[in-house]
Amino acid sequence: MEKRKIDIFDTTLRDGEQGPGCLLTLQSKLEIAERLELMGVDIIEVGFPISSPADFKAVSAVSKLIKNAKICALARAREIDIDAAAEALKGAKFPRIQLGIGSSDIHIRNKFNSTREKILDIAFNMVRYAANKVDEVQFFAEDAGRSDNVFLAKMVQTVVEAGAKIVNLPDTNGFCTPFEYYEKVKFVMDNVPNIDKVKISVHCHDDLGMATANTIAGLLAGAHQAEGTINGVGERAGNAALEEIIMTLMVKDLPFFTIVNPIYISGLSKIVETAMSNYVQANKAVVGRNAFAHSSGIHQDGVLKDRSNYEIIDPKLIGGDLPDLILTARSGRAALKNRMAALNIPYVENEFEQYYEQFLRLADTKSVVTGEDLTAIFEISKN
Ligand code: KIV
Ligand code: ZN
Repeated sequence: MEKRKIDIFDTTLRDGEQGPGCLLTLQSKLEIAERLELMGVDIIEVGFPISSPADFKAVSAVSKLIKNAKICALARAREIDIDAAAEALKGAKFPRIQLGIGSSDIHIRNKFNSTREKILDIAFNMVRYAANKVDEVQFFAEDAGRSDNVFLAKMVQTVVEAGAKIVNLPDTNGFCTPFEYYEKVKFVMDNVPNIDKVKISVHCHDDLGMATANTIAGLLAGAHQAEGTINGVGERAGNAALEEIIMTLMVKDLPFFTIVNPIYISGLSKIVETAMSNYVQANKAVVGRNAFAHSSGIHQDGVLKDRSNYEIIDPKLIGGDLPDLILTARSGRAALKNRMAALNIPYVENEFEQYYEQFLRLADTKSVVTGEDLTAIFEISKN
């Protein structure tokens, strides 16, 4: 079966920056955008121009800088938002406006104090308005995760008639399970008469820790574009982590692929971490500092025999270093010998047990035994 290409839509600079404390300087936005382009990301969403002068300036500056990736700016379904987005995108080679409105009854009632019919009218008119300003209009059906599927399908049909080329079905509140999200996207794919005129995008939040799983489920149901952020930053619990989506596409034999080059993942993750002062948790998939660290004796022995025993991703593939085996109180003799050899610490074979016991005594008092610790023990044990 021929694999279909998935467009990768990065929203680190927009949704990612919405995370509390994640504000980025213009300089950082330019640097991150350049790295995203180098990595081969298809679309970079840079900001929400109407929201602040700095966001407008960022969209404008990134639009002028980036030559290959499409540049997207966010707008609500209002003319002044769309005007600001179009103006900020003026320098972009491939501009895209993403505009949208609530699709769930909760949003329609509690946020807009409106009705389904009125919301459909606004969506139609505003997509039409934006389609006169840029070639590519992406519509987001906000809170699609909690919307009624029949109404959602009607909304997609309406905005496609108005000229939307991409429709995003966000699980805005991270409410769905993968099976529910699969069903939702599949329902839209199967029940919208003009579905062949549009690309469907998936945008998942991590409130229940299912953002990446939901994204993959949405792609399996037929979506064409996956949205996410580097390190999974974003509103509340964050967005689907782009590095997780990309590596899932690389590691698994799925009916689709991406052209993104994963070699830049590790470096970009560190740039985003530093620029946002938002530290990546140690056990974060793909980019956490422990993501490739093996510390128990059983695992270390297996890795020393063949890394594939306990590694499904080659860290070199994401531009990471092959990490040292972490020496802890759970480490075995094989790991200790391996590290001693790496540190050029000589030992007499029949004295090794003694050495191992000494190592364990220290390991029981601290979480990780470093190379310096080993050298120090060795010096002590020589005297
Ligand atoms: O989560 C969401 O609904 C969004 C939209 C603006 C796309 O971020
Ligand atoms: Zn979002």
